[in-house]
Amino acid sequence: MNPPGSGPQFRPLLPGEVPSALRLSRLAGWNQTEADWERLVRLNPAGVCVWRDQEEVRASFSVTPYQGTQRIGWIGMILVDPAFRNRGIGSAALAAALHHIREQGLDLAGLDATDLGEPVYRKHGFVSIRPMTRWRGRLKFGGGPLPDSPCAPPPLEAVAAFDQRCSGVDRSPLFHHLLQSGARLLALKEETGDLAAFGFLRPGREAWQLGPVVAPRESRIPPLFDAVVQLVGEGNECLCDVPDGAIPQDQLRAVGMEASRHLQRMTLPAGRDVLCGPGIRCVSAFEMG
Ligand SMILES: CC(C)(COP(=O)(O)OP(=O)(O)OC[C@H]1O[C@@H](n2cnc3c(N)ncnc32)[C@H](O)[C@@H]1OP(=O)(O)O)[C@@H](O)C(=O)NCCC(=O)NCCS
Repeated sequence: MNPPGSGPQFRPLLPGEVPSALRLSRLAGWNQTEADWERLVRLNPAGVCVWRDQEEVRASFSVTPYQGTQRIGWIGMILVDPAFRNRGIGSAALAAALHHIREQGLDLAGLDATDLGEPVYRKHGFVSIRPMTRWRGRLKFGGGPLPDSPCAPPPLEAVAAFDQRCSGVDRSPLFHHLLQSGARLLALKEETGDLAAFGFLRPGREAWQLGPVVAPRESRIPPLFDAVVQLVGEGNECLCDVPDGAIPQDQLRAVGMEASRHLQRMTLPAGRDVLCGPGIRCVSAFEMG
């Protein structure tokens, strides 16, 4: 899994190491659960790699491939144990992830950078393509009429085809594994019966996580969010990662959310709106694109 040379040797995460990997993401204050780690492994077993000492997993990365108009390798879970930082291990994790992406024949690398990660990625040639904000808060209804129940979830193939028109890639493996690991699919239909919007919602370590949300028409966002509040329950905590400008801020505040942290979507080489083009209102999560 490593490029030839020295440095920490990354190799695929073993099933029994998931709790140790979770310890690493928890140390960074991230929201992932064991189910989130396991989903990444199912999506690409050779692409979720760790470096460890005799006690614990000390560093990690994940690569999730998406195929379509572009062949994207999505990099996530770049994590280094706080006691092991500033020794080049984060840079080595990134180099190993890029090596994996090249080996798989993928032609674009994408990731969502935290403030800590951004300088490391910039040094490797990544460029920012879109600022994003993590919105978080205790949910409340948005003030409109009480929502109708969302429609019964349509077949996954229909959701994936609808999504591909906005994302440009086939995310059916991701959607399949989201549902397998307990995520809920919310969908709204147009009066014609066509799909109008959908969103996935899953339990996180600290808060429910919403994403991706795809809604080509902006007017469908408030009813979808009200359906989210209905499902999660008022007063419960939820978060979502929103490309800046994709959802009017007053709509997010209306359902109880506030901006909690900033992220940069970055690609190598420079790409345009990778997995965050028009119609994509919330991304999946920063480890999944
Ligand atoms: C971001 C993160 C992965 C970086 O890991 P790291 O191991 O500290 O990264 P590196 O050591 O490669 O680089 C960090 C610094 O060490 C420097 N460095 C690199 N190689 C070095 C070496 N051999 N010896 C000493 N310092 C080195 C780098 O130049 C960099 O310094 P600078 O930013 O001041 O220029 C780590 O801070 C982390 O896990 N943060 C929490 C999770 C997170 O935000 N992840 C990013 C997700 S996008």
